[in-house]
Amino acid sequence: MNNKENKAPEKKGSALRRFFHIPPILKIDFEKPVPFRQQFAIMGTILVMSCFLFTAVYAAQYFAAEKINVSKTSASVPGDQTAGEKDKDNGKTVSNPEKQSSEVSEKEKISKVTCANKDIFKKMSTVVKTQKDVYEGSLILVNKTYPSRLDGENVKLLYEEQNECYVLADYSVGMDAQSVTSFNAMLWDFASIYGNTDIMIACGYRSKETQEALRSAEVSGSEEAEAEQWVAPPGYSEHQTGLAFDFDLNLTDGGKTGINYDGEGDYSWLNQNCGDYGFILRYRQGKEDITGYQYEPWHFRYVGYPHSRYIEDHDITLEEYIELIHGHKADNALVLEDQSGSKWCIYYVPADDSGTTDIPVPEDREFEISGDNCVDDESTIGGGYLVTVKLIEDDAPNLGSEVKIESEVSLSGTASDSSDSTGQSESEDTDYETTDYDNGYGYDYDNDNDYDYDYDYGEESGEDYQYDYNTYDYDNTQDYTDYNTDTGDETY
Ligand code: DAL
Ligand code: ZN
Repeated sequence: MNNKENKAPEKKGSALRRFFHIPPILKIDFEKPVPFRQQFAIMGTILVMSCFLFTAVYAAQYFAAEKINVSKTSASVPGDQTAGEKDKDNGKTVSNPEKQSSEVSEKEKISKVTCANKDIFKKMSTVVKTQKDVYEGSLILVNKTYPSRLDGENVKLLYEEQNECYVLADYSVGMDAQSVTSFNAMLWDFASIYGNTDIMIACGYRSKETQEALRSAEVSGSEEAEAEQWVAPPGYSEHQTGLAFDFDLNLTDGGKTGINYDGEGDYSWLNQNCGDYGFILRYRQGKEDITGYQYEPWHFRYVGYPHSRYIEDHDITLEEYIELIHGHKADNALVLEDQSGSKWCIYYVPADDSGTTDIPVPEDREFEISGDNCVDDESTIGGGYLVTVKLIEDDAPNLGSEVKIESEVSLSGTASDSSDSTGQSESEDTDYETTDYDNGYGYDYDNDNDYDYDYDYGEESGEDYQYDYNTYDYDNTQDYTDYNTDTGDETY
């Protein structure tokens, strides 16, 4: 026997390849079964390469996200347990694909929210908003300078939602969807306390066209200068946003059903406690030069809590409140605390001229972002965003509160506040208590000219100015607020 022939053929290649039975490259024989160790090596290689690939892709994404600082936040509103902001259109997370592909300059980045030189939140991220977002939200300011860009988009018909505590003037009465639950709660509590279900919603959302008709009717029935103190020009009414509504009373007077609401008697509870439900009295006494309109005790506006409580407690207008928040950017946030100890942090972010703005928000907190609508009709850019964050215990525990909110909801069975606009209680203020409530409401500067608006607009001053919406009958003399007695009277 030839020794040379019996000798096992010399194996070529590395020991590793030999161990796993890996044939030389391009020499795989697919006819033969693949040995187990070879299978193991192939699978192992694929697995290791996949891990590398996955890690590389993930790392690339992570660093890209860090660079542009765009967060993907989940849905919530203050009061919910989940963090982030709800996308109003579809409830999906807020992000902006266009923005993700572009870079944000250093100057635009705000990485913290500070109050009294203390960082409030540990982790921040960013929500991107566009110019369109300036025009919507519960805090938008609509007045003679800033027109409404909304026209019924978020409105819900109230008859689908109403409870048994009030009635509607007709089926078309609509209201911004986000305010309906709070509205029902307010009317429910009022009816529970007073056993009174006479409230009628005369008007909620009003289209620009309806406002136009109303304004024309008002102008043709009186001096234009007079009309503009009561009825907003078309395009400039809060009613066009769906966030405002007018109360009437479902009572009959002289054959007419639906008489004007004056916010007196039992109803003063609504005017005094609306702030607990997110609503404010929009056209306040003594603030006519700021709002541009006369006192309207029937016209309420939804702004959301805690803003409503602050505005009501401080007897200020929405104009003044927005100006206050404009003075509090993220490096100097405003912190509010209510009587229950709940705290909010509020700050302003001006809109960027580019059309997209990065809004710094805390991670893992509930927040809302509203536009301020502070863009006049000549402009297409500007204004800004008002951020409201519900604070929790962990947020700068030593921060304290810069501003205390003084009232909280009273469901004790009686109207909780007996002070008038002079700050005097009824018992201290004889003028308010003894001579009034006789004719509804009016400006009676009778005793001391103290502007206490003691609701004595009646016969003694001879200043009745009744306006019948249908017949334009200015039957008495000059009481600019007494729309009560004629059929078809209307509030604005
Ligand atoms: N009465 C208010 C100002 C309006 O017309 O919107
Ligand atoms: Zn109104």
